[in-house]
Amino acid sequence: MIPEQFIQELLNRVDIVDVIDKSVPLKKAGANYSACCPFHNEKSPSFTVSPTKQFYHCFGCGAHGTAIGFLMEYAGLSFVEAIHELAKNVGMVVPQVESSSASREADAANKTIKLGLQETLQQAANYYKAELKKSQRAIDYLKARGLSGKVAAKFQIGYAPAGWKNLQSVFSNYENEALSTAGLVVENEQGKRYDRFRDRIMFPIHDQKGQVIGFGGRVINPEDTPKYYNSPETPLFQKGHELYGLFVARRAIRDAGRALVVEGYMDVVALAQYGIEYAVATLGTATTPFHITKLMRQTDEIVFCFDGDNAGRTAAWRAAMNALPALTDGLKLRFLFLPKEHDPDSFVREFGKEKFETEVQSAMPLSQYIVQHLIQENPLNAQEDKVKFLNEAEPILRQIQAPRFSLMLRKRIAELAEVTDAEMQSLLKLPALNNAPAKATQRQSRMQLSIKKRFVLMLLMQPSLAKSEYLNFAQGFSEEDVLLKASIHAALEQPQSKPAALLHTIESQVDTRLLHEIQRELTLFDEGAEFKLEFEGACTQLTKMALQKQGNSMLEALKEKPLSALTVEEREMLTSITIRKK
Ligand code: GTP
Ligand code: MN
Repeated sequence: MIPEQFIQELLNRVDIVDVIDKSVPLKKAGANYSACCPFHNEKSPSFTVSPTKQFYHCFGCGAHGTAIGFLMEYAGLSFVEAIHELAKNVGMVVPQVESSSASREADAANKTIKLGLQETLQQAANYYKAELKKSQRAIDYLKARGLSGKVAAKFQIGYAPAGWKNLQSVFSNYENEALSTAGLVVENEQGKRYDRFRDRIMFPIHDQKGQVIGFGGRVINPEDTPKYYNSPETPLFQKGHELYGLFVARRAIRDAGRALVVEGYMDVVALAQYGIEYAVATLGTATTPFHITKLMRQTDEIVFCFDGDNAGRTAAWRAAMNALPALTDGLKLRFLFLPKEHDPDSFVREFGKEKFETEVQSAMPLSQYIVQHLIQENPLNAQEDKVKFLNEAEPILRQIQAPRFSLMLRKRIAELAEVTDAEMQSLLKLPALNNAPAKATQRQSRMQLSIKKRFVLMLLMQPSLAKSEYLNFAQGFSEEDVLLKASIHAALEQPQSKPAALLHTIESQVDTRLLHEIQRELTLFDEGAEFKLEFEGACTQLTKMALQKQGNSMLEALKEKPLSALTVEEREMLTSITIRKK
């Protein structure tokens, strides 16, 4: 355990510009430094490093963090390793605190559990792989589906033989809890334990480091159900976060400059067999923003290619909707719709690599897909259809934060509904469009922030301005109030700290989305001449709001009492509040 205080001191002492410049050469650009983002593919630099705030932010892909975060993301270090690395750079010695024996034990236990699970899953994977070699039936099945031994080996495909307790021969203690926690063994209501996967082709699922974290198993016998059976969620495996094949496909994704998202294990494997190696699959779940963000780290073009059937079309629309919050202007999302009777596996087998890639290249851009879908749902015949059309467009437009993409889509939608942008804005209560250059948009966005968020920004910039009475500004329990309270406390405790150190302190207490927004705004924030005025103005406004809130609750309480029961002060207070409210 490393003491928090040391981490803060370290963040105040190191210079993030030096740290990043070592691996990603930076150019001075105004008050900041910039470069092409190392976390996604881009041609013009949107990666910014701020020496005063001591953190980085990419306006293209949203990657952001402190010097510690950079070393973790870029160099793949663990948190502790990153701290040691930074400390070494500035000649600080990392103090070791004895953690309490209880927490040390809990940590150790947790680690052992995870290590145990990893080990267990890897052993199982090795066993399944060896079993595949022994089963002619399983080999024949894969051959019949057109797979070579080479591709099977690449994905470490295996076979779980028929039988209830085969894993007994692999693990000396079949009763071991790790086997059930890992999802390899199921325990029924009578307490009987048996193998989860029986007579199935096994697809190991790897995390980004290449470790096995779960399995998908497909039946060989077409009568058996369910067709696919996956590992349950475990401490190592969350379906909404993982993508099948990503570990194998990473290089190919970088080389091709694009990732292809498909629905099935077999789609990924079959595409690889035909030389299309940049495909990954969701694990029987909808595409989540986590999936998108994960892929955005590798590439700026994602093509979704789902099955041609109705389920596939529904999945495509859901993917589009789930992607909205993660969109950035640098990201290209496209959708490839296959003929009804095809999935990527059958398509590539029938038409081959070249035809498939031609299709990929002409896949439909997200904006076009959205518009087309909206029109399909609401053919614009009557006046009422337009209202419905606009109503359905509204939540979509609201979720998009990428300014250029949002602008284009809005214009197109207004055009189709035959309204002006001003009309659409008043109908849908959307924020005003801003055609001005980026810098103005950024200032605009800051002005649109709530007063509490703006106040937090200013406190993070100049923590020495904090006073404990400001805690009155945060009387509620909203996420914003939590943020405000945490920021005031942090500023009071470390009035000399840089924004990065303060952010690190509040990180664990604050809603992640909100924190992300604050960090983004902070990057854009420059302390102009108006800083002091703005700060004082915000204080006055927040004081007023707090008093009003206090007044309201006091008023409620006083109203309950008969006038005669009030003390003189209470009567005065009541009058003053009532007057102020008028
Ligand atoms: P093949 O028939 O082997 O070509 O599989 P497919 O990938 O074409 O199957 P399908 O399109 O039916 O399914 C796509 C993905 O959904 C699979 O890869 C699984 O992840 C998941 N899936 C399909 N069927 C089941 C099922 O019965 N149970 C579960 N849990 N997942 C399934
Ligand atoms: Mn299929």
